[in-house]
Amino acid sequence: MLGGIFAILLAFVLFVREQWSYLELSFRIPRVKGIPFIGVITNLKFLKDSLTTLDTFIRKLGDLVFFWVGPFPVVLISNADLAEKVLTSKNCLDKPFTYLAIAKNTGDGLFTLSANKWHEHRKLLNPSFYQKVLKNFIPIFNEGANYIVCQLAEDSTDISHLIFKTSLNIAAETTMGKKMSIEGSTDLLPHYKKALTTISDTTTKPWIYLNSKVIQSNRKIKQFTRNSIKEKQLEMKESELKSNSEVSWKNSIFINQVLDLVQKKKLSESEAEIEALVMVFGAFETTASVLYSALICLAMYQDCQEILFDEITSVVGNEDDITFEHLTEMPYMDMVISEVLRLLPAVPYVGRKVSEDTDFDRFVAPKGLQFLISIYHIHRSEEYWGPSPETFDPENFLPHRVAERHPFAYIPFTKGARNCIGRQYALFSLKIMLAKIIRKYKFSTTWKLSDLQFKMAVTLKLKEMPDLKVIPR
Ligand code: HEM
Repeated sequence: MLGGIFAILLAFVLFVREQWSYLELSFRIPRVKGIPFIGVITNLKFLKDSLTTLDTFIRKLGDLVFFWVGPFPVVLISNADLAEKVLTSKNCLDKPFTYLAIAKNTGDGLFTLSANKWHEHRKLLNPSFYQKVLKNFIPIFNEGANYIVCQLAEDSTDISHLIFKTSLNIAAETTMGKKMSIEGSTDLLPHYKKALTTISDTTTKPWIYLNSKVIQSNRKIKQFTRNSIKEKQLEMKESELKSNSEVSWKNSIFINQVLDLVQKKKLSESEAEIEALVMVFGAFETTASVLYSALICLAMYQDCQEILFDEITSVVGNEDDITFEHLTEMPYMDMVISEVLRLLPAVPYVGRKVSEDTDFDRFVAPKGLQFLISIYHIHRSEEYWGPSPETFDPENFLPHRVAERHPFAYIPFTKGARNCIGRQYALFSLKIMLAKIIRKYKFSTTWKLSDLQFKMAVTLKLKEMPDLKVIPR
């Protein structure tokens, strides 16, 4: 009995001490005024348009801002130096509460796992993204690009939809090995889109998971993943029976490697299913939104589009398909994609949670503090990008300019241990699609970059789509 009371008292003292350390910090760095432990949660503008609100915080208070989201203490960072310290700290490998919505939707996989389990999984999954595996996807990326090029000739009214459904199809084939007909993916696309909107809406509408449409979409996606896994397991068994010995799945696609890990009892079947789901989610919307953003930027900056067109035609000529060698010979393409990812980063914010009290020079971060790193604002800061950071200029990525800049001023895939596992996959896919599309079509628009308005979701979303005119070359 006495022991019980003592344990409760101790827990209470520790809780008060922890909360006190957050309060103390909130008075030492610029903070958004609000009631401690409630904070911005009562700010309707924050809930409705968090991107604009965070923008206001940064403009008003600077590159380091403290605020409360309900009981959670959050520090918003828009400074490359601090981003580097956080992203490379061994005490900041956990993800904050905002990622719970992703875990709830896909299950707790690589994106959201806490540090210990994440370490194990990342080590097991890294080989699925080695260059020799990714090279096998080049024909799939080419096929997807061909589909877009053909479809644009028939109907260019909804380019965004065309890109998203093709990207989902590619993600399914490269990770799950399931060759969906492109039309088949049209059936699943609304369900994946629904799931992604649900993730974004969970913070403000936690009851959204009870919605019957959300339940149905989640069920369809999980069913697709489960069926693909079952088919693959059968296929793998058959090839092992045929060869009469164990087959090596070392350089094979993601799902084969993951199921091989299940056979070797390094992953459970449900872990494999979750990781497969996470990969499709991680791959499809990000790459699709960057490809669409690239077309918008090139439509706005005709001179850049022409330089890119000339590079593509001189490197690829009349050859049908883009090869790995072509990808290494298009430096302007690299610069264009980097500049698109700078101004329109597919993932505008990332979060980290502090697992031990940590000294970051400008302040000591107490255990439990949550960081929100604004990739979007670091990428648009005059400090790193000169007096016109909001202008599209691929020359920002000329080698000498990159060498002079802070290494964490450009972090679309983040850096540090918990960076994007699919970075190279995304770059291969983007370069192939963009090369094939720009070779065949010229894009134009009446919109300017400053007309684009964004909203906060898991990925950067446009409030309104610009008019995009497509002319065959
Ligand atoms: C242009 C496209 C992409 C962008 C901009 C992007 C961006 C990012 C960012 C910023 C993170 C870090 C998230 C965080 O720290 O919370 C991340 C993580 C991740 N990305 Fe990507 N990504 C892209 C494409 C892909 C692709 C193609 C895949 C899979 C094939 C993928 C799978 C993942 C996974 C699984 C993680 C979690 C990694 C971990 O915690 O170990 N991403 N991505």
